[in-house]
Amino acid sequence: MAIKLTWLGHASWAIKAGDHHILIDPFLDESPTAPVKADDVAANFILVSHGHFDHMADVAAIANRTGATVVSNFEIATWFASEHGVKSTLGMNLGGGVDLPFGRAKLTVAHHSSQLPDGSYGGNPGGWLLTIGDKKIYFACDTALFSDMQLIGNAGIDLAVLPIGDLFTMGPDDSIEAIKLILPKQVTPSHYNTWPPIAQDATAWAARVKRETIAEPIVVKPGGSIEL
Ligand code: NI
Ligand code: MN
Repeated sequence: MAIKLTWLGHASWAIKAGDHHILIDPFLDESPTAPVKADDVAANFILVSHGHFDHMADVAAIANRTGATVVSNFEIATWFASEHGVKSTLGMNLGGGVDLPFGRAKLTVAHHSSQLPDGSYGGNPGGWLLTIGDKKIYFACDTALFSDMQLIGNAGIDLAVLPIGDLFTMGPDDSIEAIKLILPKQVTPSHYNTWPPIAQDATAWAARVKRETIAEPIVVKPGGSIEL
């Protein structure tokens, strides 16, 4: 199955896998770097890593327009159903996986926080280990560095998507340590250059990845794509 990942700016990604459209953490209408608006994206599944606005601001509108299933931790999935009338939701918890039409989605640990915009409890933040066809893609999502990334890497990661913005998540230094634990074939940065406080030089980061790790760095601009 051909897999195409498109960076929608910030921590938002669109995956096209065969006929399936998967969105990760769509934050589009209020993002200064998103190349598309929430009205313009296709979705069958929307995966939400945690409750912060910069990961879920457009989830309800997209789900209610497209009929997409919102997949997240139990608290966030329940909140979208009860507070936003999302018809199709799937609640999970850390360490659990589920087989979906496009492949398998496992909710992995992330060290972060997860309050929803109205103050509701957003459960524990997570990342995603996706298995699509014979490819494994790890979205660390918003997290600090943690040594159990090595266990996630044991799955054999084709592409790791790691935050490098610093301040709210890992920065470049810790992302290099993360790559050494995960040992992905390829790695791409996320959660940076949206606003000045998380500005980073992705070209310099890529040079470090090449020099200090065995992974191949891939840097795309918002709207740019990676094919696996
Ligand atoms: Ni966050
Ligand atoms: Mn964030």
